[in-house]
Amino acid sequence: MDAVVKEELKACFSGRKVLVTGDSGFKGSWLSLALLELGAQVTGYSLPAPRAEDHFSVLKLGQKIRHVDGDVRDADHLRRVFQEVKPSVVFHLAAQPLVRLSYADPKTTFDTNVGGSVNVLEAVRATPEIEALVYVTSDKCYENKEWIWGYREVDELGGKDPYSASKGAAEVVFSSYQRSFFNHREKFGAASVRAGNVIGGGDWSADRIIPDCIRALMADSPIVLRNPNSTRPWQHVLEPVFAYILVSMRLLQEPKRFASAWNIGPAAEDVRTVRELAEHVIATWGSGKLDIKPDPSAPAEAGLLSLNCDKARFQLTWKPAWHFDMAVRETVQWYKSVAAEGAGAMEVSRAQIQKFMGQ
Ligand SMILES: NC(=O)c1ccc[n+]([C@@H]2O[C@H](COP(=O)([O-])OP(=O)(O)OC[C@H]3O[C@@H](n4cnc5c(N)ncnc54)[C@H](O)[C@@H]3O)[C@@H](O)[C@H]2O)c1
Repeated sequence: MDAVVKEELKACFSGRKVLVTGDSGFKGSWLSLALLELGAQVTGYSLPAPRAEDHFSVLKLGQKIRHVDGDVRDADHLRRVFQEVKPSVVFHLAAQPLVRLSYADPKTTFDTNVGGSVNVLEAVRATPEIEALVYVTSDKCYENKEWIWGYREVDELGGKDPYSASKGAAEVVFSSYQRSFFNHREKFGAASVRAGNVIGGGDWSADRIIPDCIRALMADSPIVLRNPNSTRPWQHVLEPVFAYILVSMRLLQEPKRFASAWNIGPAAEDVRTVRELAEHVIATWGSGKLDIKPDPSAPAEAGLLSLNCDKARFQLTWKPAWHFDMAVRETVQWYKSVAAEGAGAMEVSRAQIQKFMGQ
């Protein structure tokens, strides 16, 4: 990370009140920890972490930040918490984020990702102290045309599977709030951020490639791949985390200039297949093998997906810090140290954050 930006971030977040929805999740826990490292006062709002081995749980993050157990579908509770905390910055990450689960339970996916997001936007509207909102959607918010080019922020929104459609819909809702309410609000800026597939330590979600690989490697069984040729814009979790933080700082500095949509993804050469990722994981772990088992009955997932991030590069002067090899190495190292060798999660995660920030 650029040394000047690092100092700017520290000065901006030291003592600042921030609220993170989805703090108990994979990305939210890394974001909350990074904000703590920058000196922020963090309140988190989410459902409890489901597993004892989740990043939030092993960090004991509930003891380091103020965590509120809550449901974004509960508009009254959410608004009360926002109004009580009076944060300066809100990061909205809470969501049902799994494509396969969205086929099994589309209603919960839409209720959470669209209805819950409306509730967050309403809570923001009802809390005048808030100066910046970073609204997290996904690279899957675009209508997937299975083309080789990266999607740009101006491309058509959509989504075939319920998860993707919920993120496309969340973007349409955001755009309406932006134009109807936020563009006229003084000293306030809101941006939506669309990041690609993230990898990193402490994710144990079902049906995600890294947790699937690590579970197999730890059990000495082959890694089963059902879509080996799908390409994804893989990036380390700290890339979007620091991009969200950077966007929020720019919104605080120049609220209207940065109030738009931002793609955050890896360099084109780091858009790799699922198979390449799994092979890199095996090489870094030091053992393991693949079992390619295409599942013709599996629900459809996009095959080709990449993002064009020129806007963030030129206007935010953002660029990825860790390339594919480094992202895989740091990810596998985290699981090796914490899950396999029993190292302290807090020490390992903080060291990775310091390394990412260039200290
Ligand atoms: N992981 C990825 O590769 C990826 C890629 C693009 C976008 N995203 C987006 O980033 C965000 C975080 O994803 P993640 O990977 O950390 O997912 P995660 O499942 O690890 O975390 C989701 C978080 O949302 C919370 N949540 C879910 N339903 C809720 C509800 N009804 N009320 C309150 N909280 C609720 C959970 O408690 C958890 O804290 C999501 O918006 C997701 O769509 C993730």
